[in-house]
Amino acid sequence: ADPALTARAAAAKRALGDRAFILGHHYQRDEVIAFADVTGDSFKLAQQAAARPQAEAIVFCGVHFMAESADILTGAHQQVILPDLAAGCSMADMATAEQVEQAWDDLLDAGVAADTVPVSYMNSSAAIKAFTGRHDGTICTSSNARRALEWAFGERGGARVLFLPDQHLGRNTAIGELGTSEQDCVVYDPRKPSGGLTRRQLRAAKMILWRGHCSVHGRFTRDSVDEVRRRIPGVTVLAHPECRREVVTAADLVGSTEYIISVVAAAPAGSAFAIGTELNLVQRLATRHPDKTIVFLDRTVCFCSTMNRIDMPHLVWALESLVRGETVNRITVDPDVATYARKALDQMLALP
Ligand code: 13P
Ligand code: SF4
Repeated sequence: ADPALTARAAAAKRALGDRAFILGHHYQRDEVIAFADVTGDSFKLAQQAAARPQAEAIVFCGVHFMAESADILTGAHQQVILPDLAAGCSMADMATAEQVEQAWDDLLDAGVAADTVPVSYMNSSAAIKAFTGRHDGTICTSSNARRALEWAFGERGGARVLFLPDQHLGRNTAIGELGTSEQDCVVYDPRKPSGGLTRRQLRAAKMILWRGHCSVHGRFTRDSVDEVRRRIPGVTVLAHPECRREVVTAADLVGSTEYIISVVAAAPAGSAFAIGTELNLVQRLATRHPDKTIVFLDRTVCFCSTMNRIDMPHLVWALESLVRGETVNRITVDPDVATYARKALDQMLALP
């Protein structure tokens, strides 16, 4: 990192004191995460967003859907700032509000909407979260997807779930953790008429998985796992549930970024891990645990380009602007959208 920028960020943060609350997702660059007041996975950051009500600004070092969620979960007196507006998420972009409304119409046509519960991954736009809230569904993250599905089929009484927008998290959780059969899962492809499914398929399904995926995690393959096991005998393979089913079934342990961090921290010196998640986090774990062997699951996969958009020049610009009393890159969610999105987010935060 450029020492001049580090010094400017430190000076701005000092000048702001409690006026600014900086949140950082685990996939952020090292030099940026160093300035976070709280670091976490998506769930922890959603929980923490409202933890500092006296701060006038929440500087969100993460991606757009996270900043939107923070705006929904905090009071109007707090402004949420995303240091680079181009920090989006390709997975969230794979489900637009129009497409999801069309899908719901298809479910209505098939006569199955009434007992279908939308469960939407945090990695979705505020509009998708609002759709979820309007239909009495819930949001989930990679750390509570199992509980979200158990709630949808249990307490909420759903006969099937429309899982948006990450097909892999939906499939891995349903099949891997709830024991749903492969035949009970279908994939709704928004680019095809009726999602490429017949009414009969929609009626028979328990899990209707949206055809979306993470462009980073989707690149790990079964071969990545086989190759690393050959290279490092005895290695423990740790994968994020956004990975494909073939990767998750071949891995030893599966979980959110917070889980991955805790597993590595708890392991004895000399342990070896191959980790299938974003590269910034894997590199940070390797640096933090020099007594353990920590490698990236597949050396051909690279950083999440949008997470990496938040860099020191953008962070310094956002912080120094606040010091001058100027707000840049504020993320605001339309109040009507926010009301229903909040309902779905609150349902997640209330999951047992
Ligand atoms: P978690 O930190 O919740 O595991 O999320 C991973 C992710 O891809 C966020 O974009
Ligand atoms: Fe989106 Fe994947 Fe990047 Fe997370 S890692 S922000 S899901 S593209």
